[in-house]
Amino acid sequence: MTGDLEGVVATSTRLSHVDGEAGRLTIAGYAVEDLAPHARFEEVAYLLLYGRLPEPSELVRFTQDLAARRALPPAGGEVLRAAAAAQALPMDVLRMVAALLSLGRPENPVDDALTAIASFPTIVGAYWRMRSGAAPVPVRPDLPHAAHYLHQVFGAEPSGERARALETYLNTVCDHGLNASTFAARVIVSTRSDVISAITGAVGALKGPLHGGAPAPALDMVFEIGTPERAETVIGAKLDRGERLMGFGHRIYRVRDPRADVLSQAAQRFYASGGDQRLYHLAQQVEATALRLLRERKPERRLDTNVEFYTALLLHGLGFPAALFTPTFAVGRVVGWSAHCLEQLRDGRLIRPQSAYVGPTGLHYDRGANG
Ligand code: COA
Repeated sequence: MTGDLEGVVATSTRLSHVDGEAGRLTIAGYAVEDLAPHARFEEVAYLLLYGRLPEPSELVRFTQDLAARRALPPAGGEVLRAAAAAQALPMDVLRMVAALLSLGRPENPVDDALTAIASFPTIVGAYWRMRSGAAPVPVRPDLPHAAHYLHQVFGAEPSGERARALETYLNTVCDHGLNASTFAARVIVSTRSDVISAITGAVGALKGPLHGGAPAPALDMVFEIGTPERAETVIGAKLDRGERLMGFGHRIYRVRDPRADVLSQAAQRFYASGGDQRLYHLAQQVEATALRLLRERKPERRLDTNVEFYTALLLHGLGFPAALFTPTFAVGRVVGWSAHCLEQLRDGRLIRPQSAYVGPTGLHYDRGANG
């Protein structure tokens, strides 16, 4: 049965373009490697929501607009407490609290989008602290978005290097064509439902391991290898057993994922500024060995490094536990979901594909006669 829509063009968008043959990602006109390491998160969010980079005064206003929306509704705090008591999964909690962001506010697409983007760091950070037995820290309207997320999770104002490294990550994953969660958001809003409903559905789609995630297993492989000399033996044994190497291969990219380069350079800069250099070098050697063995063992496939490999290294270096890797992806991707919702509401029609019926026909209902 062909039900995965592979290769089907389902909509037009001005937001991002993934060129899998050339290994290029364009975000609203800019190459990801040009935009992500240099731009402020708020600039990228503005670019996606409004179609162009902000003027300086617009950036100031937009930054303030986002910062003013960081606090959660009181019911959010109650859900977080109940979830912490149940040790719920962070992605489930993000979905539950995202759903109640519409509480007490009139429905408005742009306001909904800004509220979701601004609130995600608070939801993830406050929940993680509560689940770990620490008190949540109050929201800080004076910090930029990436720094605020780090403050919410770790309870301390981050250094410039830490904030820049996270900001580069969030910018890198802000949008990526019509991936599953973005498509889910567009389908929901195409019924003229509201943006908070669409974002809630998108969180649910991102939770699945086929979409939101291989970074934790990719890092596990680096730890399992432990020292560069073991890379060949451990990776070779995995391939002998028919296992897939996490952090390699992609449905669309047939060459190196351009996001891997952006994040490997961000990780290199960050680890050089005081991180565990040994781990960074080990990861580089693991990557080189994995690529060599994949080419030797599967010459007919075109397998290269994907975004997850260096995501894991960068987020681990910043101190994020593996349980927060996918929620942190959501903190970045909520920008793309929001922008796609606004675009769909502006330009789109109801998304209503058809299915091919492959069930039986001509059956006759006669249970009533027997009874
Ligand atoms: N390691 C080893 N072999 C791999 C591989 C990997 N990471 N990725 C693909 N292959 C090989 C396998 O031989 C597979 O054949 P099989 O089904 O007989 O095992 C074949 O290539 C499939 O190739 P392709 O059609 O390119 O993959 P796909 O589009 O079905 O899958 C992924 C894409 C991402 C799901 C896949 O590459 C994968 O599982 N990667 C590891 C997980 C990961 O890093 N995910 C994050 C993606 S951003």
